[in-house]
Amino acid sequence: MKKLAHRGYSAKYPENTMEAFIKAYEQGFDGVETDVHLTLDDELVLIHDEKINRTSTGKGYVKDHTLKELRNYNFNYKAYGEYPIPTLKELLEFIQDKEFVVNIELKTDVIHYDGIEAKVLKLVKELGVEDKVYYSSFYLPTLLKIKELNPDAYVGYLMEFKYKKKYQELLENNILAFHPRYTFLNEKRVQELKQHNKIIATWTVPNFKEYQRLIDLGVDIIISNEYFK
Ligand code: G3P
Ligand code: CA
Repeated sequence: MKKLAHRGYSAKYPENTMEAFIKAYEQGFDGVETDVHLTLDDELVLIHDEKINRTSTGKGYVKDHTLKELRNYNFNYKAYGEYPIPTLKELLEFIQDKEFVVNIELKTDVIHYDGIEAKVLKLVKELGVEDKVYYSSFYLPTLLKIKELNPDAYVGYLMEFKYKKKYQELLENNILAFHPRYTFLNEKRVQELKQHNKIIATWTVPNFKEYQRLIDLGVDIIISNEYFK
C-alpha cells in the first residue's frame, strides 16, 4: 500500500507548492498527488482550481496568464512566506533522484486544454521519470489519449459521482486503475474491482478510522492531506 500526499502535505503546508511536496517527502509519504493546468504560454503549472483566486494573491484563470505573470503572485495563502506557483518540471526534477512517486491529475474536466496530454508525457519522458508517474483524470478522453500515446502508462479514472456509470466505463475502456472518492468503497466493490485486476486508489481520506477501514478492505493507494501511521 502506498500513501500519497494530496496536493502535497496540504494538512500542514500550502497546497500544490514545492514546500508541500518537499515536506511530504520528508514526512515519509511514498509520493504526492498534484493537479496540472496549462498557462497562456503553454507552460504546465501545478494548481488545483482553474482560477488562481482562492490560493494566491492574484485573480483570473490560469489559462489567461503567462507563467511570468503568475510568478508575480504569492501562492502561499495559508501562512507566512513567499511561494511561487510550481511548474510540473520543478516537481519532476525534485523526484528524479528519489524513491518517490507523483500522481499527476490532468485537470481537463472543466477546461479541455488542447494538447496537454502530449505535453505532460513528453516532459515526463525527457526527465526520465516514467516509472514514477501515475496519471489520473475525471475526464475519460484524457485517459484514452494517454493510453494511445503510451500504452504502458499508469492511468486512473477519477470518480466522485455516478459510481455505476464510471465503473462500466472503466471496464469497457480497459483502464488500469480506479480512483473513487473514499465514501464509495465497501467490501463488495473492492472485491469486484480486484476480480477485474484493477488498482484501487482512493481519496481524500479524512481520518485514521477511514484510513484503517480502507487498508482492511485492501486498497492499493491512499491519498490524504494528513499523514497516517
Ligand atoms: O486525485 C484525487 C483528488 O485530488 C481529486 O479531487 O478535487 O481534490 O482534485 P480534487
Ligand atoms: Ca486532484
